[in-house]
Order: sequence, then C-alpha cells, then structure tokens
Amino acid sequence: MQEDFKAIEFKDESLVLIDQRVLPGKLEYLTYRTSEDVAFAIKDMVVRGAPAIGGAAGYGIYFALKEAKGSWDAFIQKAERIRSSRPTAVNLMWAVDRMVEAVKKSGMDLVAARKEADSIVEEDIAMNHKMAKIGAKVIPQGARILTHCNTGALATCGWGTALGVIKQAFYDNKGIFVYADETRPRFQGARLTAWELCRAHIPSKLIPDSAAATLIRDGKVDLVMVGADRITTDGDVANKLGTFTLSVLCKEYGVPFYTVAPITTIDFNMKEGKDIPIEERDADEVKRPGGVLVAPEEMEVFNPAFDVTPHQNVTAIITDKGIVYPPFSMNIERIKNGEEL
Ligand code: MRU
Repeated sequence: MQEDFKAIEFKDESLVLIDQRVLPGKLEYLTYRTSEDVAFAIKDMVVRGAPAIGGAAGYGIYFALKEAKGSWDAFIQKAERIRSSRPTAVNLMWAVDRMVEAVKKSGMDLVAARKEADSIVEEDIAMNHKMAKIGAKVIPQGARILTHCNTGALATCGWGTALGVIKQAFYDNKGIFVYADETRPRFQGARLTAWELCRAHIPSKLIPDSAAATLIRDGKVDLVMVGADRITTDGDVANKLGTFTLSVLCKEYGVPFYTVAPITTIDFNMKEGKDIPIEERDADEVKRPGGVLVAPEEMEVFNPAFDVTPHQNVTAIITDKGIVYPPFSMNIERIKNGEEL
C-alpha cells in the first residue's frame, strides 16, 4: 500500500518537497537544488518529521558533494550546515553521518552518494511498512486511539510511523476511531494529520490539545500512539511538545502509551533523556499563529518544540526490529546487537 502523494521525491537532479507550511490550504511542491536551500527547508519546516528530515538531508549532502568540487573541507563545512539545521531529531545527524561515511568510502563519488541518499529513503519506507504490521497487533478491535503531532506519510519518506500503524489497523478492518490533537503551536495535528486522515477516510475527530485529559479520564481513549524524534538507550522519548503531558495522563488513568519509531530514531550514544537537545523556536510561532497577533507584541515567550517522556511512562516502543517492552535499556541493547524482538 502507498499514499498518492510523496512528501519527498528526487527527480531531474532536484529534491522536490511538499511545502508542509501551507497545507492543508494548498498542496504545493517546492524544488531544491543546493545544500544551503535544503538546510533552510529543514530549518523552516518545509519538510518536517524526524525520518523525513533524514531523507531530505541525504539529498542535501549529495548537493553538498556536487558543490564542493572535490574539496573535502568545503564538503564537510556544507554537511555541517545541514547537520545543525535542527537539533532534536537524531535521524538528521544519523543520515548526515551515513552520507559522509559513504562519500568518504567512495572517494567522493557522486553516483555512490546519490545511491546512498536513495537507499535512506527506500529503507525508511520499508521500515515503516514493517512497523505498521508489527504495531497493528497491539491495536484491539474497535480501539479509540489518540495521536499527537503528525507521524504519517508527510513526516517520513513514505507511509508513516505511529500514523502508519494506525492506517494499517484501519485497513485491517479493526474498526478504529482516531482522536488527533491539533498540536500547538504549529498545528501539525490539525493541518497535517487531519489532512492525511481525511484523505484516507479514517473515522476521526480533531481535538484541542487540552481536551485529551477529559477524553482519557472519561475512558474514551483505549490507547495513545505517538512518534519520536530521539529515543535514548534508557528508553526516554523526545517527541513533539505535549507528548509528555499525554504520557502522564495515560499513567494516571491506566491507558497504554505507545511510541512508534524506526531504529534510526534511537540514539545509541545517549543514555538519558535529560541530555537530548531540545529545540526552542521563534516566539512568533506562539504569538502570531497563522500570522495573526494573539498576544501583546512585547510579551516574552518560551517555545520548546519538543519534550521528553520518561521511559517509566512508556508501555512499549514499536520499532522495525520488533516491540520493545521494559526493561528498555536491556531490550534496546539487544536491538543494538542486531537481535529482532
Ligand atoms: O517539529 P516537527 O513537526 O518536525 O516534529 C515532528 C514530531 O514530533 C513527530 O512526532 C516525530 O518527528 C515523529 S515523525 C514520524
């Protein structure tokens, strides 16, 4: 199964991205041909979602290699620019490191670099479909699922992580119902997840983020399923701001809390969530949503893009290598060693 749109596509020596800043009002494609422009597209969230950022970065590195014209130093400088375009999603650093390694190994060969970038995209799509099949097993018949941010085909190189599992359950005729958090302040839930849910005709409702507490308390949510931007070896999960709140609610009311992510989202070099760099974004995202001023101009703002859910609040992490249950550090180590769970 596949979507009828591609958030990321490489054609005619160009990276073509859906402009996720203007959905759902407009379905517009933007074309990129330089490493600098790809870094900007990531930073400005034309493309967003951890695996999608990784996929776009692969082609950004390919452009960097072209532009460097054989100079290793120039290449590394450009690669660094892409690597630092957003700090939290580890898929970005993972993709850049993988590309730099491939470029080094091939003696700065363009064809090899292009192939590596294509592989990152193809492998991500395959991992998503695998997770969808693995994850759908934890979704009971008739489940009412609450999700946060956007984790679908737009957030990945194709199909999705948490939303990929949810779609699979829908196509498996599980009779599911989805509550989508609007996800302030960038509204990825309202603008992107709702768009994907409507396109797929999945029974669903959009809710203000704060309505989740009432729904969960009243027994109207059977499970919460979200994505991740970085998972540490202890099993702590960085994801879109508001995820932590949902996990606390789930713990309080005994609702399963699942996170879905490919192993490219696991940072095997980081043990605890407190060490994850959390991006802080512009004040205007909060003060001026959609360009309309909703707070005094002089008001100061704290706008972290992500929060960290402690592993104690996570029921299980669904990966392409199987479902990771507690004890997370032991089971993540098994995955690191190549085991399938
Ligand atoms: O700031 P964004 O839109 O890039 O944040 C995206 C998320 O937090 C997603 O939940 C996460 O990247 C997983 S996407 C499959």
